[in-house]
Amino acid sequence: MALLLVIDDDRSIIESFRILFEGNHTVIGAYNGPEALQELSKHKVDLIFLDYRLPGQDGLEVLKTILSKDPDAYVIIITGYGNFETIIQSISLGAYDYIEKPLDAEKVRITITRALESKKMSSYVKHIKDMEIENYSLSHIIGKSEKMQEVFKTVGRLVNNDVPVLITGESGTGKELIAKAIHYNSARKNDPFIAVTCSGLTETLLNNELFGHEAQAFTGADSQKKGKFEAAGDGTIFLDEIGDMPISTQSTLLRVLQEREFTRLGSTQTIRLKARIIAATNKNLLDEVRKNRFRQDLYYRVNVVSIDLPPLRERKEDIPLLVDYFIKKNNKKMKKSISGISDSANKTLVDYDWPGNVRELENVLTNVCIHLQDNYIHTLSIPSFGMQENEEADLYDDFIRTILQIHGMEKNLLKNMTRCLQERLIKKVAQMTKGNKSEMAKILGISRVTLQKKLRELSCDT
Ligand SMILES: Nc1ncnc2c1ncn2[C@@H]1O[C@H](COP(=O)(O)OP(=O)(O)OP(=O)(O)O)[C@@H](O)[C@H]1O
Ligand SMILES: [Mg+2]
Repeated sequence: MALLLVIDDDRSIIESFRILFEGNHTVIGAYNGPEALQELSKHKVDLIFLDYRLPGQDGLEVLKTILSKDPDAYVIIITGYGNFETIIQSISLGAYDYIEKPLDAEKVRITITRALESKKMSSYVKHIKDMEIENYSLSHIIGKSEKMQEVFKTVGRLVNNDVPVLITGESGTGKELIAKAIHYNSARKNDPFIAVTCSGLTETLLNNELFGHEAQAFTGADSQKKGKFEAAGDGTIFLDEIGDMPISTQSTLLRVLQEREFTRLGSTQTIRLKARIIAATNKNLLDEVRKNRFRQDLYYRVNVVSIDLPPLRERKEDIPLLVDYFIKKNNKKMKKSISGISDSANKTLVDYDWPGNVRELENVLTNVCIHLQDNYIHTLSIPSFGMQENEEADLYDDFIRTILQIHGMEKNLLKNMTRCLQERLIKKVAQMTKGNKSEMAKILGISRVTLQKKLRELSCDT
């Protein structure tokens, strides 16, 4: 049930809306602009029908006033048949749609359904956007260490300043997170944040990805494709792993940054560059410059301000805070109520060197939280993540040696052992998940169908 405001000096129109939607929608009426504004201040109206021809007033002026008070208002203009000038003017001013007099009940009904759906959709999109903005508020970036405090200060200075930023740091230190924080805390936050990974693509593919192409620009280009620079519009373009960008793409990018415009491949029309540029790399870019793998002039263009994210092992005081943060995050995501972590478990986590930085810590805690039987994390709940690679390899070697001693003479050794291992692993996972098939499939990294098949094959009883 929606609340409709019908603004028309013709009482019979308001009445016909009432009769038409009785039991479905509530209709309130207003005979002129001032009355309409009064109603709008009293009620939260879903849709507004506005007759553009009101006595002594211009309907379009009323439209402007309504939209200036509530830019999200859904206004549908009621106009005379074929009055295209009014239609174009009102739509360009921000009206959602129009209907023509004499009113056709079925058309009005369809217009209302469509408008309500579109309104629901756009408020959903706004909700998602708000959540996204909230997710990248600075309160979600953890770090009390001096180095991280410095980073936060720089981010604070950068949100109101459009200079290009280069974010450096080892893998998993939070480069993308910081780039998003800059974007979602800046005036560009309602425009897109577009990330492009510059590694792993040939120069042709990367150029195409960044700048797009026209139809027929090359063999196989069936239709026009917009590039990421165009898609970013007034937002931010995040050039991830810029240190791996092929040299020829570096030259194109340099030109784009110098001239602040670009063209789609196969087009002569230039498009203005409006997006903010943030780049990131886990390479030492100056080293790359010295080795002639990165253009020096481009280096100075993208590195107007730099943020260097310290590895986690150099800010161990942040580890307990991050642990606490990820436990809370997981509680919310997994609907759990893990209350905390023991001192010795915390120490285990602090002592470890975290070559994969915050991402590795986050993954370890996600795994711990998934598998935790009770609501408290003990040292034993933490898997052997801290084990050095060679220690883990030693364990496997010992295991295989034992297997060979016991089963070495069997026929079909590989088949039998694989089966035996799979059976045990699946049983263990079944125990951990209390037999929940979707959870099991997720942990094992296979589909539910494959899991069912395996359970039948192995005749595992879960
Ligand atoms: N200070 C922090 N506070 C909270 N979460 C963080 C922090 N730093 C990183 N993270 C989280 O760690 C994960 C990895 O971060 P991100 O993807 O930004 O790293 P990256 O430096 O871009 O890594 P890579 O070089 O591998 O792409 C993300 O889930 C991110 O949300
Ligand atoms: Mg990244």
